[in-house]
Amino acid sequence: MASAAAVPEVALRSGNGRPMPAIGMGTASCPIVPETTRDAVLAALEVGYRHFDTAYLYGSEQPLGEAVAEAVRRGLVVAREEVFITSKLWSTRCHPHLVLPSLRETLQNLQMEYVDMYLIHLPISLKPGPTVFPAKREDAMPFDFEGVWREMEECHRLGLAKAIGVSNFTATHLDKILAAATVPPAMNQVELNPVWQQRKLRAYCAEKGIHIIAHSPLGGLKWPGSEGNAVLECEVLAEIAKARGKSIAQVALRWIYEQGVSPIVKSFSKERLKQNIEIFDWELTEDDHIKIEQIPQKVVNTAKGMFSPEGEFTSVNLSDMEFFEE
Ligand SMILES: NC(=O)c1ccc[n+]([C@@H]2O[C@H](COP(=O)([O-])OP(=O)(O)OC[C@H]3O[C@@H](n4cnc5c(N)ncnc54)[C@H](OP(=O)(O)O)[C@@H]3O)[C@@H](O)[C@H]2O)c1
Repeated sequence: MASAAAVPEVALRSGNGRPMPAIGMGTASCPIVPETTRDAVLAALEVGYRHFDTAYLYGSEQPLGEAVAEAVRRGLVVAREEVFITSKLWSTRCHPHLVLPSLRETLQNLQMEYVDMYLIHLPISLKPGPTVFPAKREDAMPFDFEGVWREMEECHRLGLAKAIGVSNFTATHLDKILAAATVPPAMNQVELNPVWQQRKLRAYCAEKGIHIIAHSPLGGLKWPGSEGNAVLECEVLAEIAKARGKSIAQVALRWIYEQGVSPIVKSFSKERLKQNIEIFDWELTEDDHIKIEQIPQKVVNTAKGMFSPEGEFTSVNLSDMEFFEE
């Protein structure tokens, strides 16, 4: 069994909780089956994961919390404090008066006193109300970056979020937060992998002291009707994997780690969970890095993809919400 100690940790700026393990397990799945999610988290804890990513949107907060409580009962972990939990504020709640109540609801779902990291899920604010996905274009509203961030800081001040950050933010969005922040964001969780390397954003975040977390590190979840997977089917990565005696997934995750970025990877298979965490006792060569840098770039997640194609944006431009600037 891999031990949690085998995973390096990252100290986060303005985080007053435990340091963050350098790889985490993602819990987004479609459709969400709570028992499957719970069992997968327990399997992940068994093979050494101590860092979990959830969101109000995913419906996985409750099974994740149940799995952690069960792991404590079974003695798999000593206490809740041993795990690092991230959750996210959904767009219908990106309004100053809804931030704190939303985190309280997340904590209720998790049955926890605090999250280690609370993120604004997207630079998109939607009309308050039930979650509709994809969202209606007419529900998009101007984002009150200053007001929402002030309330994120309040969550931090109250000790309900040990650290606070953002997700899918570009440098332009981050500039708006930084202009208003007393507590700057500790993290930006974005799509990042060998096929979407985010060089400019990485340079910007390094300069500002914001740690990057890579979501969709293996090219993302397989959705009904989604075509192929640019990471897992990448020939350059396949060649390197063969030469190193590793899987393509391991090469992608190791490359991310060697960029100083921490991957959040989803698998509900115990075998693949174990494979994905075994990336810390070997290295890619300089030649591997040169080859990976030349891979043609392709993004999967876009602001446009968050909205249904019908209807019109009435009070905000799609370009103001876009996640990428490259
Ligand atoms: N902030 C955001 O907007 C955002 C967006 C997307 C994702 N996320 C977070 O990031 C997490 C990870 O991203 P993701 O789920 O989109 O994509 P991902 O981790 O890149 O890929 C997950 C897919 O890869 C498969 N897989 C996992 N390990 C594998 C391996 N070793 N070999 C072959 N296939 C493997 C999984 O299937 P099996 O389960 O069958 O192994 C699953 O279909 C999510 O769960 C979520 O927590 C955040």
